[in-house]
Amino acid sequence: MKQIEIVALPGDGIGPEVTAVALDVLKTVCRQFHVELKATELPFGGTCYEQHGKPVTDEILDECKNKKVVLLGAVGGPSWDDLSADLRPEAALLKLRKELGVFANLRPINVYPALAAASTIKEEVIEGTDIFIVRELTGGVYFGEPRFTSEENGDPFSVDTMKYSRSEVHRVARVAFEAARLRDKRVCSVDKANVLESSRMWRKSILEIAGDYPDVELSHMLVDNCAMQIIRDPKQFDVMVTGNLFGDILSDAASMLTGSLGMLPSASIGGENGVYEPVHGSAPDIAGKGVANPLAAVASAALLCRYSLKLEEAALKIEAAIQAVLESGLRTADLYTEEPGTTLANTKQISDFLLKTFQQKEAAI
Ligand code: IPM
Ligand code: MN
Repeated sequence: MKQIEIVALPGDGIGPEVTAVALDVLKTVCRQFHVELKATELPFGGTCYEQHGKPVTDEILDECKNKKVVLLGAVGGPSWDDLSADLRPEAALLKLRKELGVFANLRPINVYPALAAASTIKEEVIEGTDIFIVRELTGGVYFGEPRFTSEENGDPFSVDTMKYSRSEVHRVARVAFEAARLRDKRVCSVDKANVLESSRMWRKSILEIAGDYPDVELSHMLVDNCAMQIIRDPKQFDVMVTGNLFGDILSDAASMLTGSLGMLPSASIGGENGVYEPVHGSAPDIAGKGVANPLAAVASAALLCRYSLKLEEAALKIEAAIQAVLESGLRTADLYTEEPGTTLANTKQISDFLLKTFQQKEAAI
């Protein structure tokens, strides 16, 4: 057995509940591929603030850098909303992304046939949707300097800076073009080049990289139009590449195509490092009740197998198990619509079903 060590940062709210399921799945499937996965669990976000007075410590960051692969739950919650910016749980997440240099955030948006009816959008519009969002993750207005709050003639004001350098755009563009080569060979770059200077730099830099990929078709779209097009005709998109803020917003919008934000996984990659986390938040309203949908966390574990462990077969196996859950009719509350043939399920029932799928497959080998 090959041994692989990763870090698990379950975080806050439903984070620990969904991460536990994802880890069980990950360990079980890895074992079937002769990999013994060991996860060091560490506090992160609000949970870390409670223990250490800050949302992440240098030791925890060092451990993530050493292990290179991180499975994350979710961070945040009302108890930490009034803390100063650097103590908020979200600050830990941004620091982790920056320090690990995971500049490309991959967010696949697939509509599972079994869930096509669960979306608020018409079935014929969304069925067959398969979008791959590549969001720049360590630059843009999330990190640009200067960034401050001051006052002018008694009127307080705040400044954030949206900054993109050519090299930052180049490296994320390459990730998008490479991804497109394995798919439908189309990239749509999303910006606000009719208004923003940083977007004009973005577009120019994307065009420079496009020259190296003559086999991939490139288009450009303004972000406001894109928000509308995602809802109007999502099937037109293959790979989408965009900046940090636009990608954050567009991926939440796109998640609704899949029926629930609770279905969306993400992989953040850069160099040899990878951070895998569901797109959804910590959902404090349902935390601790055992009803959270663990499928986005489980799908993130599949991405971990694909991008960090290079175990494509393991990734496919996990993704097939997710599909099997949905086809069985089991639905957590976020997806449940009383549709005939479906049953309301809690987190444990979903977890049991997933693990049983792997045992059956194992027995069949
Ligand atoms: C996400 C989240 C984060 C982001 C927050 C929690 C800082 O919304 O991963 O999409 O804005 O990047
Ligand atoms: Mn977001």
